[in-house]
Amino acid sequence: MPEADPQLFDKIVNLSKRRGFVFQSAEIYGGFRSTYDYGPLGVLLLRNVKDAWWRDMVQMRHDVVGLDASILSPPQVWEASGHLSNFSDPLVDCTNCNARHRLDKLDDPDTCPSCGTKGSFTEAREFNLMFKTHAGPVTETAAEVYLRPETAQGMFINFANVLNTSRKKPPFGIAQIGKSFRNEITPGNFVFRTREFEQMEMEFFVPPDESQQWYEYWCQARMDWYLDLGMPAEQLRLRPHDDDELSHYSSGTSDVEFLFPWGWDELEGIANRGDFDLTQHANASGEKLDFFDQASGERYTPHVIEPAAGATRTAMAFLMAAYDEETVNDDTRTVLRLDHRLAPYKVAVLPLSKKDTLTPTAHEVFDTVKGRWMADYDETQSIGKRYARQDEIGTPFCVTVDFDTLDDRAVTVRERDSREQDRVSLDQLEGYLAERLG
Ligand code: GAP
Repeated sequence: MPEADPQLFDKIVNLSKRRGFVFQSAEIYGGFRSTYDYGPLGVLLLRNVKDAWWRDMVQMRHDVVGLDASILSPPQVWEASGHLSNFSDPLVDCTNCNARHRLDKLDDPDTCPSCGTKGSFTEAREFNLMFKTHAGPVTETAAEVYLRPETAQGMFINFANVLNTSRKKPPFGIAQIGKSFRNEITPGNFVFRTREFEQMEMEFFVPPDESQQWYEYWCQARMDWYLDLGMPAEQLRLRPHDDDELSHYSSGTSDVEFLFPWGWDELEGIANRGDFDLTQHANASGEKLDFFDQASGERYTPHVIEPAAGATRTAMAFLMAAYDEETVNDDTRTVLRLDHRLAPYKVAVLPLSKKDTLTPTAHEVFDTVKGRWMADYDETQSIGKRYARQDEIGTPFCVTVDFDTLDDRAVTVRERDSREQDRVSLDQLEGYLAERLG
């Protein structure tokens, strides 16, 4: 059995800040707790994770289309979905120290973990996790709107629009990537659980008698996605939910779990939601949300299989899975062994010296690669330090322009994982990198 590495957590938090993956939000004002900003490298990593998901889930399939629905939505959506009545956590207050806790997360439900007092909790009350705000200048109840706590409902309420415009029929899916908001009581573990986060969700609408087979299909397909992008098999598992864990809508859910530094935890849930959502919205809106199958003459409400992943959480898991330290000549080398598709920069162009004589050729190399790959250009510090920095941020190839380049029109290409170097002529460089980067 693989073991969690508790020290990895601090290493990833430090690397994220030091190299510019993730910053604490509003840091200059003391920091806004549990909220994060993605820096120059983080935004690239996150975008690459989302692009890899979109490519696999939408671009490479004829049976899935995309959507970008609004974040603000009226209460009717959340009444019908069940979020207004069910999307809550039980909350208790300590009458001794005023600390607030989630009852279901306490080791001992009678003792306050903040001050150690026994029997000091108030009665539990349900705390709804949705952020509420007001549309327009009037703060009256009629103007109440919610920030979506999941992207999924956007797909359900647009089911008929998509069906009527896309010429798809079940089995088919609608996919969406976007921000969601939950007023989590216990955010934490860096970007693992935050109040503002990004999701990658797909609702796959199927004939009812095919739901089990599609549920199994998507469990496997989603596991394969993580493995294909380099997540080690021993740090990934599919865990079916016990009956008492199932959400109010689900007749079967499995979680894709990753071995985080604190143990196994969720990356994604794949749920068999039955016809719950379409039926709820059809009843609440009075609109028909079903499908007429001309071949069989049958009208039915499709069942839904939903793979629901977190983009921000998954990006962090890829960082953790890629982090490696090795000893090279008595020094520790930190290297992010990220899959090429996820690496923030694919290529770094490094003129050996800042001398003007090398600059035009180094710029020429940068111009050769920049249209095809995200590339870094760095001329400060020693070449050794620059290689170390690129290893630490996961750049697969460093291209060094040296004084010989001016004579032989060739550059040194260094590969991240093996540290092997090749001398490549400038006119072959693009082909050389294309072969290795795809
Ligand atoms: N539509 C179903 C749904 O939203 P979920 O399990 O609540 O299901 C799906 O969320 C995924 O979204 C989770 O597996 C996780 O990766 C991500 N997620 C949920 N809450 C999150 C939070 N507070 N912070 C970061 N990611 C979160």
